[in-house]
Amino acid sequence: MATTHTSTSKSSSSRKSASSKSRSTARKTTSSARQKDAVQLLKADHRAVEKLFSQFEKASGEQRKMQLARKICMELKVHSQLEEELVYPTSREFLKDDEIVNEALIEHQAAKDLIEQIQGMDASDEMFEAKVTVLQEQIEHHVQEEEKEYFPQLQKSDMDLKAIGQQIAMRKKELMAQMQGDGLEMH
Ligand SMILES: [Fe+2]
Ligand SMILES: [Fe+2]
Repeated sequence: MATTHTSTSKSSSSRKSASSKSRSTARKTTSSARQKDAVQLLKADHRAVEKLFSQFEKASGEQRKMQLARKICMELKVHSQLEEELVYPTSREFLKDDEIVNEALIEHQAAKDLIEQIQGMDASDEMFEAKVTVLQEQIEHHVQEEEKEYFPQLQKSDMDLKAIGQQIAMRKKELMAQMQGDGLEMH
């Protein structure tokens, strides 16, 4: 890797003019600086789902609740699939702690079971709200564990979180499109 770094150019002829207000070169926002890494993207998903759950809590009317529950289920399915495809397996290679990934997978499975039940229900079902509330509690617990224990371990590891972030962003678009398509076919 030969880095030609020999341009020790002495300050260009234009010395800084005291009155110059422009600092044109001060901020460079390269696309790589804007690109979010895996942890940032996953946390953003967590916040989005929390927001949907709190909208569900405040919502009134079966139709609105149904709509929000569907959205919550879809977001959670996409998010867990992204973690299961792109994050959890890779992290096994970098972290010594397999148990943390095993527990996360069990929690995902429990959430999936509940999600399936909710998706097969009508908002008029007397168990509907209770199921969504229990899903919320389970997800809150899972998110806590990921953000307090798991993600910090990833950040300390040698995992290339930027590269995984790029994969997550691409795969998420595919999965969202796919699930929205499925949803349309069902009705
Ligand atoms: Fe997860
Ligand atoms: Fe997560």
